[in-house]
Amino acid sequence: MRHFTCVQDLGDLKQALNEAFEIKKDRFQFSELGKNKTLLMIFFNSSLRTRLSTQKAAMNLGMNTIVLDVNQGAWKLETERGVIMDGDKPEHLLEAVPVMGCYCDVIGVRSFARFENKEDDYNEKILSQFIEHSDRPVFSMEAATRHPLQSFADLITIEEYKKTARPKVVMTWAPHPKSLPQAVPNSFAEWMNATDYEFVITHPEGYELDPRFVGNAKVEYDQKKAFEGADFIYAKNWSAYKDPNYGQVISTDRSWTVDAKKMALTNNAYFMHCLPVRRNMIVTDDVIESPQSIVIPEAANREISAQTVLKKILMGLSNL
Ligand code: CP
Repeated sequence: MRHFTCVQDLGDLKQALNEAFEIKKDRFQFSELGKNKTLLMIFFNSSLRTRLSTQKAAMNLGMNTIVLDVNQGAWKLETERGVIMDGDKPEHLLEAVPVMGCYCDVIGVRSFARFENKEDDYNEKILSQFIEHSDRPVFSMEAATRHPLQSFADLITIEEYKKTARPKVVMTWAPHPKSLPQAVPNSFAEWMNATDYEFVITHPEGYELDPRFVGNAKVEYDQKKAFEGADFIYAKNWSAYKDPNYGQVISTDRSWTVDAKKMALTNNAYFMHCLPVRRNMIVTDDVIESPQSIVIPEAANREISAQTVLKKILMGLSNL
């Protein structure tokens, strides 16, 4: 594997899951694979889980790691070509990216949607420039439209906890005071559609996701109806995708908060969220603290998804 930005990059999903479970049995069995190789992790946005889990995964593989927060200590980057650079941005991405590539073997990039231009966001303007100009394998640590390391960890977690071969998985919109990207729900939908699970998406009208990610999922506007018989509830907020409201909060309706009453409609479902989560907006304290909440094992699996992806990239490098 050269680059990792979406589920298709992994190839055979069942095989990738098997690799992940092998790594989980002994995460140090490939500790020679990354010897003398350097991972550079570039953050345009904040992170707790992605930063720690990806660094740990790289260390398990014997890699060296460098972490750069672009907005803290680096030169402010211009990303538009053709701009007369007489403002507050002294360096252009078109020089910065190949320079970064000189100091490492693999690059991870976190760059969220900016909500300035939908086309730029959905064309992955920043991530694609790293792929084009770094001359290194690049993987997404959450980009504008997808968060594949999170979705892979979500899938690993569902496989570990599922009680039937084809569980009912429900992704529900839940309220949040700020405007959040669609990357996590897009990506989760993409990965769920790559399985044979029963997959349902529920949200208020106006929060329809890009149909390319919704795929064959059932969209149910009645949240309670969607929860009936669910084996997994995956909660997430996202801002509007549809024009003219792209990137906007069009509702903070607290009747969509996941609470114990709604969870009682399910098949004793497990509760999932990628974290960070705003308690009593997205989910009530009692649900996230209940035995059915698997948000911590889900976060723990971020190390496993990152290590599986890095291992595949390193194996690709050694086959060159
Ligand atoms: N879920 C996730 O990506 O967490 P961070 O934003 O803290 O990395």
